[in-house]
Amino acid sequence: MASTHQNPHAILVAYPLQGHVIPAVHLAINLASRGFTITFVNTHSIHQQTSRAQGVGSDDIFSGAREAGLDIRYTTVSDGLPVGFDRSLNHDQFMAALLHVLSAHVEELVERVVAEAAPPVSCLIADTFFVWPSALAKKVGLLYVSFWTEPALVFTLYYHMDLLRKHGHFDCSETRKEVIDYIPGVEAIDPRDMTSYLQATDTSTVCHQIISTAFQDAKGADFVLCNTVEELELQTISALQAKKKLYAVGPIFPPGFTKSIVATSLWPESDCTHWLDDKPRGSVLYVSFGSYAHISKRDLMEIANGLMLSKINFVWVLRPDIVSSDDPDLLPNELKEEVRGRSIIIPWCCQIAVLAHPAVGGFLTHCGWNSILESIWCKVPLLCFPLLTDQFTNRKLVVDDWKVGINISDGESIARGEVSEKINHLMRGKSGDELRERMDAVKQTLENALKPDGSSEKNMNRFKDDLKVRIQEKWGSINPKMLARV
Ligand SMILES: *[C@@H]1O[C@H](CO)[C@@H](O)[C@H](O)[C@H]1NC(C)=O
Repeated sequence: MASTHQNPHAILVAYPLQGHVIPAVHLAINLASRGFTITFVNTHSIHQQTSRAQGVGSDDIFSGAREAGLDIRYTTVSDGLPVGFDRSLNHDQFMAALLHVLSAHVEELVERVVAEAAPPVSCLIADTFFVWPSALAKKVGLLYVSFWTEPALVFTLYYHMDLLRKHGHFDCSETRKEVIDYIPGVEAIDPRDMTSYLQATDTSTVCHQIISTAFQDAKGADFVLCNTVEELELQTISALQAKKKLYAVGPIFPPGFTKSIVATSLWPESDCTHWLDDKPRGSVLYVSFGSYAHISKRDLMEIANGLMLSKINFVWVLRPDIVSSDDPDLLPNELKEEVRGRSIIIPWCCQIAVLAHPAVGGFLTHCGWNSILESIWCKVPLLCFPLLTDQFTNRKLVVDDWKVGINISDGESIARGEVSEKINHLMRGKSGDELRERMDAVKQTLENALKPDGSSEKNMNRFKDDLKVRIQEKWGSINPKMLARV
């Protein structure tokens, strides 16, 4: 069969962290609903955590999607560490396994799938943070589609690390403090708004090795899919497109923005929607610092006391390991007592269900990219407390560029009085109204992008067409499976 008449079959490998698995799963659903066949790959560890969080009987997280008519197959791979290993507590060892060991396991799996699959596999879709996809794709004769789950601005900063180094803004003994104004498509960015890795003085860490190797590898990508919206990052995206076939296809959400038919949560979700049902419209602050970042005990106490002083209703997702895995009893009893009537503190929840609830009127967030997109979608203004990685850069977009959120602090560190003041600023009064007005406009941009003639929808279709052209060029009428076996 001539492969050009078929829809593409892609192997999609999700990065084994919560914030990456979520958009990867929804990308798989999106592509499959356009006729792609997807073989979705999770690590054993992510799979085990996901099914444990769901309770019983979820061996294949995509069975519901297949019942809905989507051709998504599911398989798992070892990341190189035993399933029971505590990856959160031993973060660097986990990252070292992703850097050095995972690729050998993936290679074995990809070769097996390529040899057996019908329809034949033509491309590998993998998270940009992996260090091996383009090399592996070349080796086994597939096209490589790099999936970027953060804003284009962050992609371009990493993509131009050599420029940052050359100008003395990264990886030098005395990094410059002046504004960065030489990255193509980025008018100006303060060095403090770069990702934490680009601001670090020690650049020899395992995360730095991952990032520099991954972006070296990404230069070999045939296509890049980016979970952002063209209209929000126009200049940055245009400049990148001079170098890469990059498509802004976000926001990538579950169909209808309801609880996904595919399980993605790594922890059991507490349902607080009943609690929210009794609360006045827009009266509740949602507080969550995501799945990954840790915060210091000091900052935690300033936030807890700030929440107490604010007198505002709140839902707080307080991961038991937010400070560290061996300090689970986080809040003093008097404090819990004081906020009892107007708050609910839970270990984890279905975030889109909470943000979509009409009682929620603000989001105190670490500025993870998924959180930002979801919050904008629900028109919930943001109170920004970035902690690491891309979150500093995301904060700049939210507060300084789009003006749909505010900083949690005007100084270097946070203090309870200011936290309380900022919460009230966000939740009450005129300043909050201005944010909400801006939010309406940015939400409209996201909504328009997903309409049939919207930018993300068009980009996704263009990606599919361009991919098919490449498949035809590469294989003509030859079955890629046969070619891969030669
Ligand atoms: C927010 O804080 C950052 C530093 O973290 C600063 O550069 C920026 O100007 C602040 N923005 C506003 C609107 O206060």
